[in-house]
Amino acid sequence: MPSSSSPSADQVAQDFRALYGTDPDGVWAAPGRVNLIGEHTDYNDGFVMPFALPHTTVAAVARRTDGRLRLHSADMDTGVADLDLDALAPGTDRGWTAYPAGVVWALREAGHPVTGADIHLASTVPTGAGLSSSAALEVVVALALSDLHGLDLPRWKLARLCQRAENVYVGAPTGIMDQTASACCEAGHALFLDTRDLSTRQIPLDLAAEGMRLLVVDTRVQHAHSDGEYGRRRAGCEKGAALLGVDALRDIPYDGLDEALAQLGDEEEVRRLVRHVVTENQRVERVVTLLEAGRTREIGPVLTEGHASLRDDFRVSSPELDLVVDTALTSGALGARMTGGGFGGSAIVLTETTDTDTIKKAVETAFANAGLATPRTFEAVPAQGARKVA
Ligand code: GLA
Repeated sequence: MPSSSSPSADQVAQDFRALYGTDPDGVWAAPGRVNLIGEHTDYNDGFVMPFALPHTTVAAVARRTDGRLRLHSADMDTGVADLDLDALAPGTDRGWTAYPAGVVWALREAGHPVTGADIHLASTVPTGAGLSSSAALEVVVALALSDLHGLDLPRWKLARLCQRAENVYVGAPTGIMDQTASACCEAGHALFLDTRDLSTRQIPLDLAAEGMRLLVVDTRVQHAHSDGEYGRRRAGCEKGAALLGVDALRDIPYDGLDEALAQLGDEEEVRRLVRHVVTENQRVERVVTLLEAGRTREIGPVLTEGHASLRDDFRVSSPELDLVVDTALTSGALGARMTGGGFGGSAIVLTETTDTDTIKKAVETAFANAGLATPRTFEAVPAQGARKVA
C-alpha cells in the first residue's frame, strides 16, 4: 500500500495558491476503482460490481466568469494550459488535458452554464494500471464544476457526462462502469450496477472482518493497441446482438445461451464474445447472491471462472496477468482474476489474511523468474466515491 493513498487537500490548495495567486473556492476528490466482477459487460447493458479505491485524484478549483479554463497537474510536466471554452472541440487535444476539457465541453453541450475555472490537480491513482485514473480525473472535475456552478447534478448524470467526455471528446469508446464507480461508490461497499438503467445497490463488503484480503497486483505492463482491441471487442459484441436480434447481449438469458450459440453458427469469434458476456452477467449475479448470503469465501471460484472466460473466450488477458492469477491460485488464493479492460494492467487476488504475504512473495518471485519488473501490490479496501474535501 502506498504510504499516502490520497493527496493532501491542504497541500493541493496551497499549491493552487502558489500557482494562481488566489485561494481556491474548494477542493474535491474522486477515486480510482477496481472491479470485483463484471468485465466487458457494461457496453452490453449488463451488470458490474466495482468498488472505489482509497487512491484519489484531488482538484483545487476556483470558478471564473470570463470563459477561460486553466488546467495544471502536479503529476505532469506540461505547465498551465489556458483554454478558451468556446474553442473546445472533440478530437483537438491528445494530452491529459483532454479529459478535464472534455468534461467542461460535455457539461456545456448538455446546456449547463459553465463559465470557466482555474484547476490544479494531484493524483495517487496509478496510471496505465487499469484502475480508472481517467475516470477519477473526469469525475473530480465534473463534481467540482457542478458544485461551483450550482448545477446540482445527480451522481449518475455526472457519470454519464464524464462518459460522453471520454467517448466523444477524448475518443475512447468505454462503457459507463468506471465513471459511475468513481461518482457513486460508498466506503465499505461494492457497487452493484445495472448498466442498462443505471440502478444501483450498495453491497456491504468488509473482507478484513471475515479474515480475508483483496490484493491488487499491478503488473506494470500495458500492451500496445489495447484501445483498438477494446473497440474491436465492443464491435464484436454489437455484431452478436444484431445477429441474435436483441438490443444488447444483456437480453440473452443464461438459459438461452446454448440456443444463441447454435444460432450464431460458424461465427466463432462472435460466439466466444457472446459466451463471455452472458456467463459474466450470471457471475455478477452469483457474487451478489453469495455476498448477501454472507458466503463471501465462495466468491473466490467465481472470480477465477471470470478470469478463464476473459482469457479464453474474450481474449483480453495477458501473459503477465495470467502469471499473477496462476501463481496466486497455486499459492493458496481463494480466487483471482484480471480486473478492468485487460491487455495488461492489474489483477485482483482474494486471499485468507494469513496467506497474504506468502502469495505476494510467490507472485514477485514468479515475476523475477520470468524476467519481469516487480509488480506493485497493495490491499484494496472499498473507499468513498467522489466528494468535497475542503
Ligand atoms: C474499461 C472501460 C470500462 C469497462 C472495462 C471492462 O475499464 O473503461 O467501461 O468496459 O474496461 O469491463
